Amino acid sequence: MQTESHIKFVDKSVHFVSLGCSKNLVDSQVMLGYLGLDGYTISPEPQNAEVIIINTCSFIEASKKESIDSILQMADFKNPEVGNCQALVVAGCMAQRYARELEADLPEVDLIIGTGEYNKITKLLKAFEDGKLEVKSFVEIPKFIHTEFDPRINTSPFYMAWLKISEGCNRNCTFCIIPTIRGRLRSRTVDSLVQEATNLVASGVREINLISQDLSDYGVDLDEKNKLWHLLDGLEKIEHLDWVRLFYLYPDDLSDEVIQKIATSKKICHYLDMPVQHFSSNVLRRMNRRATTELIFERIEKLRAAIPNIVLRTSLIVGFPGETEEDFQLVVDSIQKLKFNHLGVFKYSDEDGTPAFKLKDKVPQEIIDERFEILYETQKEIVRDLNKLLVGQEMEVLVEGSHEETDMLLVGRYTGQAPDIDGKVILNDLNDREVKVGDLVRVEITESLDYDLVARVL
Ligand code: F3S
Repeated sequence: MQTESHIKFVDKSVHFVSLGCSKNLVDSQVMLGYLGLDGYTISPEPQNAEVIIINTCSFIEASKKESIDSILQMADFKNPEVGNCQALVVAGCMAQRYARELEADLPEVDLIIGTGEYNKITKLLKAFEDGKLEVKSFVEIPKFIHTEFDPRINTSPFYMAWLKISEGCNRNCTFCIIPTIRGRLRSRTVDSLVQEATNLVASGVREINLISQDLSDYGVDLDEKNKLWHLLDGLEKIEHLDWVRLFYLYPDDLSDEVIQKIATSKKICHYLDMPVQHFSSNVLRRMNRRATTELIFERIEKLRAAIPNIVLRTSLIVGFPGETEEDFQLVVDSIQKLKFNHLGVFKYSDEDGTPAFKLKDKVPQEIIDERFEILYETQKEIVRDLNKLLVGQEMEVLVEGSHEETDMLLVGRYTGQAPDIDGKVILNDLNDREVKVGDLVRVEITESLDYDLVARVL
């Protein structure tokens, strides 16, 4: 049943909050593309916006809390004394996972849009404005993935972009809710990705970061022409593209072809994000991971043999149900042996709807906290030692802007530092050169700090 039109957007201003990971950020950028095409303008301040969209995350407890806090904070702007909000929209992973609960508990929310429906944002807003919506929630089993034909506004700094090469995941790790939220894996074709990358480079991007839930399964749903190494070949040919970096490549499916491409390419950074999650085969089995302790070590040795200077990032979960003191000690020993350059440690969070939720032998929170601290301190020492080895080396740095603590210093990243998550290179001597944001400059590393490096421009 249709309702009477009760609102009218006057200036079509939209305030956008993007939470969660880089994959979610790409969805936000596509939504912004559709909104821009439809005449919406971005309102940096929420109090002026007629439409407020929160693209949410619901991976673990902390991200759910952040999403709810943000929705409640934005809901205040529906009060005419505070703001001008006519439509409060919740999109993304929390919308997909908790649509019913959001409808029941947060009546301030006007529209709930799932992870496969976000490309319909402007149509749904129009229908809402015209009073033609019969329901609030638009959440189906997600099947959509954007292509080069969908509009997208790259909100990252002009010189870099995330390129989402597939969506969804076929793995079913027992701790992870994402396959439920994002659906089965669907890959974009190599042609589509190379075209989007070419468009991004034409707009000034020189660094492209490949992302998905699972880079190693890329193309399993497509034909033989669409494998990861074909994509890397295609990206290699794009003129004016300088750096390509790979994230979320699992050790069990790290092929020789991909290792060779990274080793021989001029553009693919000698950097790999390879989330192993644990080192104990007992825990890996309970996590339903395909890797074992031996396989992880074997793949890393192979990688290092082919690419001696490769920078490795991984992520680990501490306190997974059934993790014994022995399992944990194996993690500590492994990171000491393998010496990852970058490490993300996550405390296990019991997520309703995941198989791990039902596992017995939950690790008490104080032990999880303690193990987290041990890993954090161990890794700090490792990074300190690895960074010292870089002093005196020459390398290229992509200049990003001023140091967050002072305008007097510029900062950038070398190929071994990914955007947002790794350290930076602080440029404290520009050698009288004019250096601009987005430039690639040759530097010599002069000092190493805990996570950052200091350099002078050559
Ligand atoms: Fe990303 Fe959070 Fe969704 S990590 S895929 S935004 S649950």
